[in-house]
Amino acid sequence: MRVVVTGAGGQLGHDLVEAFQGHEVIGLARHQLDVSDREAVLQAITTVQPDAVIHAAAWTAVDACEEHPDWAFAVNALGTRHVAEGARLVGARVCYVSTDYVFDGTSPDPYREWDATNPLSVYGKSKLGGERELDPGSTIVRTAWVCGLHGNNMVKTVLRLASEHDTLSFVNDQHGCPTFTADLAVAIRTLVVGRLPGTFHVTNQGATTWFQFARDILSFSGQDPERVHPITTSELVPARPAPRPANSVLDNAALRLQGLPLLSDHHEPLERMVKELT
Ligand SMILES: NC(=O)c1ccc[n+]([C@@H]2O[C@H](COP(=O)([O-])OP(=O)(O)OC[C@H]3O[C@@H](n4cnc5c(N)ncnc54)[C@H](OP(=O)(O)O)[C@@H]3O)[C@@H](O)[C@H]2O)c1
Repeated sequence: MRVVVTGAGGQLGHDLVEAFQGHEVIGLARHQLDVSDREAVLQAITTVQPDAVIHAAAWTAVDACEEHPDWAFAVNALGTRHVAEGARLVGARVCYVSTDYVFDGTSPDPYREWDATNPLSVYGKSKLGGERELDPGSTIVRTAWVCGLHGNNMVKTVLRLASEHDTLSFVNDQHGCPTFTADLAVAIRTLVVGRLPGTFHVTNQGATTWFQFARDILSFSGQDPERVHPITTSELVPARPAPRPANSVLDNAALRLQGLPLLSDHHEPLERMVKELT
């Protein structure tokens, strides 16, 4: 297959390019392709003539999106319109990477692919806008709490804070499934190569909270997990501009019901990543 990856400079984009080795893969980082530029997107896709476009590019700065909603929608929603249009011109399939933040997090249960969306934040609304730009037959992969070796994420933040402070505070009232890009990229390859349409929730298994996740990171790096203290979201100082869903746990129901392999429990890739970083 010939595959274009947008956002190839990001943490997931980097690992997608790796995961598609053996296929013809063209990774385009933001400086090579700005998805908000319609002409550039159409030219890139019609020049390369891919079989599939994996659209991982997004403006992922969740709090900054609240301050700059127009840019959030220009990149995440309109940018996806451009990708969908380009793919349509050459008959390529689109696989769009979306987010748990399309849900409001009020459900007591893990979210299935068919549950009603209700994003709380500008980022979530703009990503849902992107979902709505896709042609039927496209693939949507909703994921959550993404961590990769190449980029900024909570694992690196916790290790940095632990080297600077004696005690750390993390919220214990937001629940989710940390997802590691090396695993996620392989699952996306399976869906793209298998030409599977529809929405798939794809996360590593095992729900946790940011507090418990931070404790696990300290444990895996040989530090005392008791240095991490639990707080509530309302105790965060300063308060974060973007509201986050309290429940971000995604039931990977479509994978499960289709008999496709689920990703491993998140503790396995977390331990590997912490060992690589320390
Ligand atoms: N991170 C998470 O926790 C999370 C959770 C759920 C879903 N997702 C989704 O997963 C996908 C990958 O996220 P990630 O964690 O790998 O984030 P990331 O590291 O921020 O990667 C996103 C990439 O998109 C690029 N980008 C930003 N604006 C662009 C534009 N106008 N045109 C082209 N590229 C642009 C960024 O470039 P610059 O760095 O140069 O700006 C970055 O390299 C995204 O679609 C995101 O919405 C992420």
